[in-house]
Amino acid sequence: MDTLKTIMEHRTIRKYKNDAVPENILDQILEAGFRASTTGNMQVYSIIVSKGQELKEKLWDLHFKQDMVKQAPVILTFCADFNRFNKWCRQRKAEPGYDNFLSFFTAAIDALLVAQNCSIAAESFGLGICYLGTTTYMADKIAALLNCPEGVVPVTTLVVGYPDEKTERVDRLPAKGIVHREIYNDYSEKDIDEIYSIKESLPQTAELLKINELETLAQIFVQKRYAKKDNVFFSNQFLNVIRDKGFMNNEG
Ligand SMILES: Cc1cc2nc3c(=O)[nH]c(=O)nc-3n(C[C@H](O)[C@H](O)[C@H](O)COP(=O)(O)O)c2cc1C
Repeated sequence: MDTLKTIMEHRTIRKYKNDAVPENILDQILEAGFRASTTGNMQVYSIIVSKGQELKEKLWDLHFKQDMVKQAPVILTFCADFNRFNKWCRQRKAEPGYDNFLSFFTAAIDALLVAQNCSIAAESFGLGICYLGTTTYMADKIAALLNCPEGVVPVTTLVVGYPDEKTERVDRLPAKGIVHREIYNDYSEKDIDEIYSIKESLPQTAELLKINELETLAQIFVQKRYAKKDNVFFSNQFLNVIRDKGFMNNEG
């Protein structure tokens, strides 16, 4: 499919057929991932391809029991990975200095760019995808299950398979609410009202407010979907993983 059309037609798929993804298609998806820009051409990431039902059930449990993890034939876990690069450096008489937060963030950026390339490639083959944010919440247990050594931190996951649902494209904020010309122009109250008005006036928003017995959509985000206490809890958990995997030596 035409690249721009593939991108513009994107929608997250949450129901999958259990048809296998042919190996040659999966290989092309992964190869498309590797073509993403990568810091210094270091490719400081790894992709773990999980297809076995037993392993997928364990992943399903860790990904908050989201059923698509069991349904879809392929689960791709994208990891920030300095392990391979560090080993190469040491084998070549070069002492790596990549045990710090900046290096983790560099590797995480690389891994996320690869994931998005894979996502577009998968969709261009008529496959559906869903990112799993639960990867960062449960990174410690996912890393243990997938045998990630020091220097390797799971940062995101893609569920990949043939769609078993037809969904509408979901809304986005208008471009003028996102794009700043030349310099950043901070938002007035009126701008905020305007930018969020489409989202707030959708029928599904009215439905959500009714179900949750709340007054505004923003309250659903801060009270139900992404509450502060959860954010703090999972932040600390994720910081521990980054530390455990050897990325928090920021002393020099
Ligand atoms: C980093 C990231 C994590 C996400 N995690 C989940 C998830 O755990 N479960 C889920 O159903 N959707 C997840 N999504 C999908 C988003 O909910 C979805 O992209 C968003 O609602 C917009 O819908 P669209 O992708 O269909 O345009 C995630 C998306 C991203 C980018």
